[in-house]
Amino acid sequence: MQVIVVDTAQDVAMLGADHICRLLSKKDNAVLGLATGSTPIALYQELIERYRRKEVMFRSAHSFNLDEYVGIAAEHLQSYRFFMNQQLFEHIDIQLKNTHVPDGMIDPIQAADDYEALINAAGGIDLQVLGIGRNGHIGFNEPSSSLGSLTRIKTLTPDTIRDNSRFFSADEFQPRLAITMGIGTILRAKKALLLATGASKADAIQAMVEGPLSASCPASALQLHANAVVIVDKEAGAKLVNHEYYHWVRAETDQLIVGLK
Ligand code: PGA
Repeated sequence: MQVIVVDTAQDVAMLGADHICRLLSKKDNAVLGLATGSTPIALYQELIERYRRKEVMFRSAHSFNLDEYVGIAAEHLQSYRFFMNQQLFEHIDIQLKNTHVPDGMIDPIQAADDYEALINAAGGIDLQVLGIGRNGHIGFNEPSSSLGSLTRIKTLTPDTIRDNSRFFSADEFQPRLAITMGIGTILRAKKALLLATGASKADAIQAMVEGPLSASCPASALQLHANAVVIVDKEAGAKLVNHEYYHWVRAETDQLIVGLK
């Protein structure tokens, strides 16, 4: 696992965008795994800026989102499909038919199986963007999720429901179920790129990077991934014990790359 601690949330977005743009420059029809939540918004804004400056194109790219609520329609303001359209897809040249978000409305159990099959049929995910929950969840794989799980329906924890309640008005239906890629699905991505910002994520980041591999911290499954990159700002990285080592590794890696050029 490569752990990169940068100064600010904006630096996280910039570096995250570098990884995506580098992939698309080598493979214009790459399959991107995308995430919702507050964290990737700055990343998407940066990608939109780069697209406007003609530094990246998404015309041939495909995307699969991690998850979607069960029981709210794509047009709902809080659906993850709506979020993706608004935060990214409407502002770049990706073809909407190539963008996929699980369908939580009609037969979600079948939709989950179909989603997994669709990812496989697309040749798998080249780069999966991830956020992390305060409880260590990735996608909606809450603590105790099987580390080998595939796309399926999950019951959200009361904590996650509380964290997300800020997006729903008091009298509105708030889903308690979601379709989510499984941890096994995420581990199959060729590269995993986890981004985290802010002090509220510091415990989860420490547990995922330096704690034991455990279903109690689903993100710790990335310790098994051969190509996982974790980019955090200072606040989210504040509880990492081996902080200095990660900086040192980054400096050495940069030197190695310069030396090989
Ligand atoms: P956040 O959510 O980016 O809104 O903090 C991350 C997550 O819960 O996976």
